[in-house]
Amino acid sequence: MNIDQIEHKTEIDMSVELAGIRMKNPILTASGICGYGLEYLPYLDLGKMGAFTTKSITLEPRDGNPAPRMAETRAGLLNSIGLANVGVDKFIVEKLPQARRLDIPIFVNVAGRTVEEYCEVASRLDEQDAIAGLELNISCPNVACGALEFGVDADQAGMLVSAVRKVVKKRKLIVKLTPNVTDISDLARAVVDAGADILSLINTLRGMTINIENRHPILPRGVGGLSGPAVKPVAVYCIWKVYNEVAGKQNIPIIGIGGVQYWSDAIELMLAGATAVAMGTVMYVNPQAPLEALVGMEDYCRRHKVDRIADIIGTAEPPRAI
Ligand code: DHB
Repeated sequence: MNIDQIEHKTEIDMSVELAGIRMKNPILTASGICGYGLEYLPYLDLGKMGAFTTKSITLEPRDGNPAPRMAETRAGLLNSIGLANVGVDKFIVEKLPQARRLDIPIFVNVAGRTVEEYCEVASRLDEQDAIAGLELNISCPNVACGALEFGVDADQAGMLVSAVRKVVKKRKLIVKLTPNVTDISDLARAVVDAGADILSLINTLRGMTINIENRHPILPRGVGGLSGPAVKPVAVYCIWKVYNEVAGKQNIPIIGIGGVQYWSDAIELMLAGATAVAMGTVMYVNPQAPLEALVGMEDYCRRHKVDRIADIIGTAEPPRAI
């Protein structure tokens, strides 16, 4: 062996498979962060990521909520976007062909007010070969009239996912779970039984912040969705619980989401049971964070003598007191 070979870093297989979808590495974007795909390109080469998730798409175009739509909190971000998007038709004609150029699997996040609306959007997107999977947003915190609350009731969530499953025949069906429930495993079980191929978790936590001088909530609708480093332990717990109680037993992969900032966070979510890890809020602070995380994740594998990153999924040891 010559000196070049000794110094050469071992190749780590960073690829993972999500219900048959091959990702060249486990890192993807969380929904809502990088728009429709190309807006972020001046800041980050998204083609280097394992996959890309669009913002939520609805049947009709939506303007979203009034400003301010975001409020910084300690170690977190509260948002109330209100599902602003161009609507499914314009998305298919104008946005999808551009996103396709990234040449990585594309997941399209889908939202609606009624079962029929979800089904209509999902069936139109199911026809698009450029899409690898549809991610159902069944728990947006930021729309009026209790809409999008399917995600907090296992029976309703199951009913919605069964209906959408009937019209989604070609694409993988991802269901995004909210942590704003008593037992997230009940929701996971219901949507897996209804036909979900992949689970993604966690969505944002409901939160509120008040301006103490004028006493008004800072976000116009009061409530917002909390994301960022503050929520990471909630994500780790929910992923660990859902992996051990539901997903791991049934071979349903999990996309882990929630407060991932560094390589070590992504590793932690994978140990808890995530097959892939989405990064979101951190990209507003450091758009290069996903690429930096990938370097650190490879080094971790080298240090721990792991040849394939997929081998660490769900390998957290049980708590000592169990
Ligand atoms: C929206 C915000 C969220 O935090 C979320 O999880 C889903 C949707 C929104 O306001 O569009």
